[in-house]
Amino acid sequence: GGKAGAGSNSKAAWAAVREEAMGCTRCPLHQGATQTVFGEGPLDAPLMFIGEQPGDQEDQAGRPFVGPAGQLLDQALIEAGVDRARAYVTNAVKHFKFEARGKRRIHQTPDAGEVQACRWWLTQELDIVRPRLIVALGATAARAMLGKAVTISRTRGSSIALDNGAEGWVTVHPSYLLRIPDEAKKAEERARFVEDLRVIGERVK
Ligand code: URA
Repeated sequence: GGKAGAGSNSKAAWAAVREEAMGCTRCPLHQGATQTVFGEGPLDAPLMFIGEQPGDQEDQAGRPFVGPAGQLLDQALIEAGVDRARAYVTNAVKHFKFEARGKRRIHQTPDAGEVQACRWWLTQELDIVRPRLIVALGATAARAMLGKAVTISRTRGSSIALDNGAEGWVTVHPSYLLRIPDEAKKAEERARFVEDLRVIGERVK
């Protein structure tokens, strides 16, 4: 409660922070990436999703969660009955980290220093949007949300009281689901992810 909503003040603040982030050199990842991929969504969203970092397609589009992982997330949210339009989506790290292999760009996991450097931006997004509930997708996002390394299996499925007053939740990253080779296991893990989202969605109804 007590939230004024996304008035012109927060819109101006968000636009200013985003603009500043476009020129970010706080860590070396800006050197290889195409552009900063800032978060997006309603500034009065009750729900915020934090991913790891932009992927190949996000790096090119300049928007978060538009590639395969984003499509899985969108579909899972529909199945879970969560309105995507009520969610702000962003990433722990805002530049794509990759290793060039010929023409392909292979994703690399950001390290603790890169996550820490980029919390500068995440903190400002959190201050502007002030979501009631924050969902960390995967270990990198959980590290960014909590300020320390945690394991998904131990933190998944329960509410975490965050310092900023919001409620935190941890679940798997949709890219993890895409990488599971065994179809039965994949279906099972995907169903578990949808169930996490359903529980989360109930809490912001
Ligand atoms: N994976 C992420 O963590 N974030 C994106 O924006 C896309 C894929």
